[in-house]
Amino acid sequence: MEEVGRIYGDVGLGQFHLLLARPVERGDYVAVEDELHGKVLCQLDDLRRKSDLDLERAGALGNGEAGAIHESLLGVARIIGYRDAQGVVKCPTIPFRSGAHVFLAEEELIAEVLGLKHHSATGAYVGLLRNHSLKVELDINQLVQRHVSVLAKTGGGKSYLLGVLIEELLRHKVTCVIIDPHGEYGSLRSPAEKSPAQGRFGVEPQGFARQIHEFSPDPSLNPGAKPLTFSLRNTDPRELLVFMGLTNVKNYLGPLKQMLEAVAVANPEYTVHDLVRAAEAAEGAVAETLRERLEYVEQTRLLGPVGTSLHELVEEGVATLVNLRGVAPDVQELVVARIASTLFDNRKKGKVPPLFLVIEEAHNFAPQQGTATCSRILKNIASEGRKFGLGLCAVTQRAARIDKSVLSQCTTQLILQVTNPLDLKAIAQSIEGLTDGMTQMIQSLPVGVALVTGGGYHTPLFCEVRPRASRHGGESVQIVAA
Ligand SMILES: Nc1ncnc2c1ncn2[C@@H]1O[C@H](COP(=O)(O)OP(=O)(O)O)[C@@H](O)[C@H]1O
Ligand SMILES: [Mg+2]
Repeated sequence: MEEVGRIYGDVGLGQFHLLLARPVERGDYVAVEDELHGKVLCQLDDLRRKSDLDLERAGALGNGEAGAIHESLLGVARIIGYRDAQGVVKCPTIPFRSGAHVFLAEEELIAEVLGLKHHSATGAYVGLLRNHSLKVELDINQLVQRHVSVLAKTGGGKSYLLGVLIEELLRHKVTCVIIDPHGEYGSLRSPAEKSPAQGRFGVEPQGFARQIHEFSPDPSLNPGAKPLTFSLRNTDPRELLVFMGLTNVKNYLGPLKQMLEAVAVANPEYTVHDLVRAAEAAEGAVAETLRERLEYVEQTRLLGPVGTSLHELVEEGVATLVNLRGVAPDVQELVVARIASTLFDNRKKGKVPPLFLVIEEAHNFAPQQGTATCSRILKNIASEGRKFGLGLCAVTQRAARIDKSVLSQCTTQLILQVTNPLDLKAIAQSIEGLTDGMTQMIQSLPVGVALVTGGGYHTPLFCEVRPRASRHGGESVQIVAA
C-alpha cells in the first residue's frame, strides 16, 4: 500500500487529522491499519495547506527578503469503517494512534467496505466510483420500494442521469411511467452515437424502441405519441373547469353543473360537443364564456366518452412516457393527478405490475407552497407507495421548493451540482450522513458526477455517471451557431 501521510494531534472516533506526504484530493479514500481490526477505510473530507509565511514576510516577498517558506499539507479524514466477520460495516471503538501511517486505499478494500458489487442480479449500473474503475450499481428493489430523488441545478445533468437509470430499469424489465413535461425522453428509443467515453465505462450504444410507449394530451405537437384521453363522465365539474382554464369557480361552477346534468339526462354517453351545444343554446355572458372554453376543450380532445385504458397506458417491462410538451401548467397538474391516482388505486388492487413513477419538474407537481392539484396524491404515494410496490422518483432543480415530506421519503438521492444556498440547505436537512465537506463539494461538482446516498449503500459516494447507451434528448437549444 502506498503511504500518503501520518496521523497527528488528537485523534477522534469519527475523524482524525493527518499530515500529508504527497498531494491527494478531497474525496480520496485512504486506509489506516488498526491493531484489532485490520485495514479501516477512511475518506478525506477536507484539506488545508499550512505555512509559516506571516503577513510581514509576505510583504517582503516582492524584494526577495522573505527567506524560505515552510509548508505542510494537512488533511481531515472521516472514518468509514471495516467489515467484520458477519459482513457488517463497523467503526473502531478505540481511536487510532497518533503517528500511525495512512495509506492510499486499495480498490479491493474500497469495494469491500462500500459494498460495491459487479453485475449483481438486482443492480442498476449508473457509473463508476469517482477516480476509480469500480462500478456503482443501485439496488433496483430499493429504488422502487423506497423512492428516489434526483436533485441538481438546471443543466446539472438530471435528465441525463435519469435516462441512464431508465435504461437500466428497462434492461431489468421494470415497468416505468415517466411524466415528461418537456418531451425529452422519446430519444430513449434511439441508440446514442458511438463515443470514446463509452469504452471506459463498458457501454454499448442501444436503443429501447420496443420498450417505449408514448402518450400525449396533444399528439399534434408531439408526433409519435398516442393521444392521451380521460373519460368525460369521470371528470367532476371542478376538474372540468381546470381543463377549461377557468379559475373563477364561483361564477361558473353552478351553471356548468346544471349543463352537465341536463346533457347527461339526454344522453348518458355525452361528449364535450354535446356540452358545447348546450352552452350555445343557453343565454348570457356566462354561457358564452362556457361555450368558448368548452370549444377549446373539445379541440384538445383530452376528454372523451372513454379514456385511454389502463392496459394501454401501463404494460409490464415498458416505459410509458406521458409527454406534456405544450400543455398548459394547470392541465398538466390535472393529468398528473389523474394518472398518479389511477396508478396508485390499481397498484393497490394488483391490476398493474409494480412500477416506478418518475416525476420530472417535481417542484411544480408537489410544491412546498401553494396547492397544486396533484400534491396530495403525490404525497400519499411518497408515504405509502412503498407498501404497494409503487416507487416514486422526484426530479427537481429546486430542492427548496418541493414538498419536504416528499423529499424526505426518498431514501435514495442522486445529487449533481447544486449552487443555490436555499436548495443546498434543503438537501442538507433532508439527507442523513451528509457531511459539511460533502455539502461543499456538491457546489463544485463537474457535470456528470453525482453524489449517491442510499441505494443500498450505507455511506454517500461520488459517482461518475456512465455515458448513455441511448440518445440524450435534453440538449440545450443553441441560440447562436458555434
Ligand atoms: N453524465 C454526463 N455525461 C456527459 N454529458 C452530460 C452528462 N450529464 C449531463 N451532460 C450534458 O449536460 C447537459 C445538461 O444535462 P441535462 O441532463 O439535460 O440537465 P438537467 O436535466 O439537469 O437540466 C446535457 O445536454 C448533456 O449534454
Ligand atoms: Mg432536465
